[in-house]
Amino acid sequence: MCGIVAYIGPKDATPFLLEGLARLEYRGYDSAGVAVAGRTGGIKVRKVKGRVADLAAAVPVRFKGGTGIGHTRWATHGVPSDANAHPHQDNAERIAVVHNGIIENADELRARLTAEGAVFRSETDTEVLAHLIAAHATEGVELEEAVRAALGKVVGTYGIAVLDAEQPDRIVVARNGSPIVLGIGEKEMFAASDVSALVRYTRQVVHLEDGELATVRADGFRTFTEDARTTHRQPSTVDWEIDSYDTGGYEHFLLKEIHEQPGSVERTLSGRLDERFATAHLGGLNLDARELREIRRVKILGCGSAYYAGEMGAQLIEELARIPAHSEPASEFRYRNPVIEADTLYIAVSQSGETYDTLAAVQEVKRKGGRVLGVVNTVGSAIARECDGGIYLHAGPEISVASTKAFTSTVIAFALLALHFGRIHDLSPADGRRIVAALKALPDQIREVLAQSDAIAGLAAEYADSEGMMFIGRVRGYPVAREGAQKLKEISYVHAEAYPASELKHGPLALISPELPTVALVPDDELLDKNLTTLGEIKARSGRVLAVAHRAPEAKLADHCILVPKSEPELDPLLLNIPLQLLAYHAAVALKRDVDKPRNLAKSVTVE
Ligand code: F6R
Repeated sequence: MCGIVAYIGPKDATPFLLEGLARLEYRGYDSAGVAVAGRTGGIKVRKVKGRVADLAAAVPVRFKGGTGIGHTRWATHGVPSDANAHPHQDNAERIAVVHNGIIENADELRARLTAEGAVFRSETDTEVLAHLIAAHATEGVELEEAVRAALGKVVGTYGIAVLDAEQPDRIVVARNGSPIVLGIGEKEMFAASDVSALVRYTRQVVHLEDGELATVRADGFRTFTEDARTTHRQPSTVDWEIDSYDTGGYEHFLLKEIHEQPGSVERTLSGRLDERFATAHLGGLNLDARELREIRRVKILGCGSAYYAGEMGAQLIEELARIPAHSEPASEFRYRNPVIEADTLYIAVSQSGETYDTLAAVQEVKRKGGRVLGVVNTVGSAIARECDGGIYLHAGPEISVASTKAFTSTVIAFALLALHFGRIHDLSPADGRRIVAALKALPDQIREVLAQSDAIAGLAAEYADSEGMMFIGRVRGYPVAREGAQKLKEISYVHAEAYPASELKHGPLALISPELPTVALVPDDELLDKNLTTLGEIKARSGRVLAVAHRAPEAKLADHCILVPKSEPELDPLLLNIPLQLLAYHAAVALKRDVDKPRNLAKSVTVE
C-alpha cells in the first residue's frame, strides 16, 4: 500500500531514496518523504503532500547524509497532508520512522504517550511508533533494543524502518504483516518494502519473515526475532529482469503490461503442459491424485480483479472437472463466519500476495482446519507463504495499479488446474488434448487482439465521453463483463456497470438510452442466439452497442464490433477480456487520466 526505502553506505542516501520511492510510487502516491542522518549530526526531514516528483523538487541540494529512510504514502489514518506524510519523529527529533501497515492500539498508545508529555503533530498511527521508540531509547540502549521493546507494546501490522540521530551507523527494520526486504550491496546496504526499489542496485536480497527485525549497517546486517533470538538468513537472488520495472518505450506501464501478455502467458504455461497424457503438471500443489479425487467443492477467494479472475476459474473448474466451484470476495468471506468443509479445496488468488483481506481469509480457513492453495504472482509473498501449496503465475512484476497481465495469467493458472483436475476425474483424453492445444495457441491469439490496439483507441475515443457504460455477458461472458467494467471505471472514472445479459430485461433495461452505451460480449457459442436477441432489445430502446465477438453481428444489432479470435469455448473468456483492457486504457488516455496511478487507489491493499 505504502512504499518504504532505506540506505546506509558511503554514498549520499538521497538520490537512492528518491529513485527508490519513484519506483515504489505505484504502491501509494498521496504524499512522500525522506529523512537522512546528516554528516553534521541530527536528522533532516523533508515531506510533502503529493507525488515523489513534488518531494524531489522540495529537497534542497544540501540535503545529504549516508544513512536515510523514505516513504510514499496511501492515506489510512488522516488525510494526505505534509504533516501526515512519513517519516514521523519524536519531539526531540532524535528518531525518524517510516511505516506500512496499521497500528491497531494507536489510540490507546497515543493517550498514554501524551500523558507522559509527547506532543503529537500528525493524525497518523505511525507517529505513535516514533514517540514509543524514543521513550525506550534511553542512555546506553542500542536502537535495536529500543525498537524491539517498543514493538512489544504494539498491536497491528507493520513494516518499518527506523533512523536514530545518535546511532547513524545503523538502520533498524522490522516486519509484521507488511513486507521488508534487505538488499546487499558492496559495502552498502539497502532495504525496501518491495524488490522493485532495489533491482537497479543489487540482486542479492533477504526477505524478512513476520516477527523478524534486522539491524542494517553499511557492511552487513543481523536479523533477530522479537524475543531477541538471532536468526540466520541466506540471501536469495532476484530473477526478475530490470527492464520489468521500466516502461520500456511504452507511454504507460499499463500499456506495456497489456502488450506483455503473450510472453507472460507463455511463462505461466511453461513446463506445465503434458501432451502425452493431455493434462497439466503443477508441481507446487502438494496434493496427490488421490487427495484431489476426494475434493467435492472448490471455493475461490480474492479481491477485485482477482475475485473476477476467480469467477472465470470457477467456471473452468466446473466445466472441465465437473466439480462445483464458486468465487467469493475474500473481503466478505472473512467476516461472515464461513463454514469450512473438509472436502472443499480453498484457493486464494492474489497478484501481490499481500492483500490483507485475502490473507485474513486464508488465515480464517486454516484456523478452522481447511486446506488452501494460492494462485499468486509474487514469489515468497505473505499469502504464498501462508498457503499449503499453489501455483505461481510467473507473470513478472505488475507495476500499473490496474491488473491486466496478472489477471490473464491467473485465468491460465485456473485453466491448468481445471485441466489437471478434469483429467483426474472424467475429462476425456480427447478433451484434454483439445484444451492443451487451445492453451498453446493463446499467446499468438493474444498478439492478434493486441494488433487492434489503434482501432480500439478510435472506439475508446468515441465512447469515452458517455455518461456511463453497461457491460453485459452471459454465463462465461459475465465475469468478462465484470472485469471489463471494473477496468474502465478504475482507470477512466467513467461509471460502468456489469450485468448478466440474461438479467437485463429484469430491471437495468430501463437505463438503456443513447447516452448509456453497452459493451456486449458475444462469443460464437451455444448462447449466441440468446445474446443476439438481447442486442435486439437494446437497439429497440435506442441503445448504442459495441460488440466484442467472434463474428460481427448484423449492423442493425451493433454499432461497432471488435473481433476476437476463437479459442475453445471454455477459454474464450480470456481472449474476450483483452480488448476490454485496451478499451479501458485508451478511454483513460482520451480522458487524460493518470493511467498508472488512478485516483484514490494503490497497488496492494494491505489494510482492511
Ligand atoms: C484491479 C485491481 C484490484 C486488485 C485487488 C486484489 O485492477 O488491481 O482490484 O485486483 O486489489 O489485488 P491482489 O491481486 O494483489 O490481491
